Amino acid sequence: MPGVTLRGLSKRYGGVAAVDNLTLEVKPRELVALLGPSGCGKTTTLRLVAGFLTPEAGEIWVGDRCLSSATAVVPPERRRMAMIFQSYALWPHLTVAQNVGYGLRFRRGMARADRDRRVSEMLRVVQLDGFEARYPSQLSGGQQQRVAVARALVVEPEILLLDEPLSNLDANLREEMRFEIRRLHETFGITTLYVTHDQAEAMVISDRIAVLDRGRVAQVGSAEEIFQQPRTRFVADFIGRTNLVDAVAATPDAVTRGGLRLHVATADLRPGARVSVSIRPHEIAFANTADGRAGDNVLSGRIRRVSYLGDAVDYQVEIEGSDVILRVAAAPALRLRPGETVRLVIPPSACVPLPE
Ligand SMILES: Nc1ncnc2c1ncn2[C@@H]1O[C@H](COP(=O)(O)OP(=O)(O)O)[C@@H](O)[C@H]1O
Ligand SMILES: [Mg+2]
Repeated sequence: MPGVTLRGLSKRYGGVAAVDNLTLEVKPRELVALLGPSGCGKTTTLRLVAGFLTPEAGEIWVGDRCLSSATAVVPPERRRMAMIFQSYALWPHLTVAQNVGYGLRFRRGMARADRDRRVSEMLRVVQLDGFEARYPSQLSGGQQQRVAVARALVVEPEILLLDEPLSNLDANLREEMRFEIRRLHETFGITTLYVTHDQAEAMVISDRIAVLDRGRVAQVGSAEEIFQQPRTRFVADFIGRTNLVDAVAATPDAVTRGGLRLHVATADLRPGARVSVSIRPHEIAFANTADGRAGDNVLSGRIRRVSYLGDAVDYQVEIEGSDVILRVAAAPALRLRPGETVRLVIPPSACVPLPE
């Protein structure tokens, strides 16, 4: 299985740079999620890779085959890729077996019996044996999506492209299908680009995540890297809930904002530089107010708002002597009330300075 390399890809629509000098490497057999909000260029990127769109600049490589460059473009049907869409895009007038077998119809030298056997095998893989003669309208959304998956896999593509394939399913089924897609990936090991706007989905399904911001890759890494060491404000804010505190570096390892002073997770800040610090709500702890005085990374505050979420409680805490409000996630057993004075402890390792 070859990998995929995208180098400096750009695609504009009128004044809009949908994909803007995008560079990304997907290793052989890797599943990379393209994750970002609506309109950040995920679908456009996937369509460029599939060959449905032609880039204005940049190159697309699969292994050592160049599929797209300034001088040559390989048409979609010769790219050895399969794509799965949010809408399933099944043929309504064909049965399940005919839909899955469709891509094999024009295979030269493939006997009908071989084709039927491959189709049955693939239906077993996606747990739809027995459904061969049904039409798409006689299937649930989840079953239709499985047919679309079988149809994509049966042609043995080198590269699999999926565009929000689970977005039309209800929440429970969507969670189940995440594990199913991961299982199929581990079985077949096809190099895959998986587009989604759902961060939990990207975290469960992928080997690595590429976060897209306005047509560019903002950061690539494992789910843990992206969550724990976001490199930009955009990534910190998009992946999970966070507090972003705009401050100024006072020393190489501390920032200030008004009377607030925080030691942070690095020691290479340039004093005087403006820094945003990302602090995850669940990394902030409540301390006993009787214990000592407030100081660096121990802050006094007053509870402004309390939201009970079942598995956690979300507090908004106004920090004394500043205009900062921090959100704190705590276990539901702790029930503090609005107006109460509290003390917060924030470990320096939880204060992640962002360069941007
Ligand atoms: N066919 C098109 N014509 C004009 N603008 C488009 C077209 N397709 C996408 N765009 C614009 O390009 C940007 C990226 O779109 P898209 O790749 O569909 O984003 P995503 O899939 O991340 O939601 C958006 O601003 C969108 O409005
Ligand atoms: Mg899209």
